[in-house]
Amino acid sequence: MIVASFIGQKGGVGKSALARVLAVAAAHQGQRVLIGDFDLEQLSCVEWAATRMAAEIEPEVEARAAKSIKKLRRAAEGYDLLVVDTRGLADDLTTDVARESDVVFLPTGTSMDDLRPTMGLAKRLARLRDTGEKIVLVLSKTGRSERLVDSALALIEDSGFSCLSVHWPQRDGFQADLDAGRAGSESSNPHLKQAAAEIEAAMLACL
Ligand SMILES: Nc1ncnc2c1ncn2[C@@H]1O[C@H](COP(=O)(O)OP(=O)(O)O)[C@@H](O)[C@H]1O
Ligand SMILES: [Mg+2]
Repeated sequence: MIVASFIGQKGGVGKSALARVLAVAAAHQGQRVLIGDFDLEQLSCVEWAATRMAAEIEPEVEARAAKSIKKLRRAAEGYDLLVVDTRGLADDLTTDVARESDVVFLPTGTSMDDLRPTMGLAKRLARLRDTGEKIVLVLSKTGRSERLVDSALALIEDSGFSCLSVHWPQRDGFQADLDAGRAGSESSNPHLKQAAAEIEAAMLACL
């Protein structure tokens, strides 16, 4: 089983959205996927999975609330992929999750306000490298300016961290899909479908 986690210091950067996008992408490939939702206040992924089930959207994606990564790992025996969504905090739990992960995705906006703390967190997590986790920044909820995206990519590259070459654009349609129990390339809009398919392929390639 592969463990892919979404970690960040902030709320609202797209952790839970991208966790669902990756889960759906893997499920469409026929993988057995479980989302572990550590954000017990929001339970975004758990609520979304219930909405998805009620709307009878296939393939089914399971999500469960979790408090301990070790327990979650045991519960996920038999699954191909465990996607871990976390709170907007970087605490001991984050460190535990990172240690247990094969890939750690750090979603971030393109502003310095977002990049600075994200790269700080990436540096702290990189010190746990002996555990073999792989840190990948993801530019998330990006606006229409290619210049902002390019300069964020350049800054991350300079820092030595890897960044997904494909970014996750902010679009009303993606939000509406999440609200309806869908995610990413399940969009009915062909442009959104294409954009999501690209980021899904890029994330799957990191696993
Ligand atoms: N690409 C996107 N376009 C539009 N809205 C998005 C996108 N990604 C996430 N959202 C919305 O932005 C809000 C915050 O995203 P979320 O994934 O919950 O962030 P986090 O888990 O980091 O707190 C949610 O309302 C979500 O539906
Ligand atoms: Mg969240």
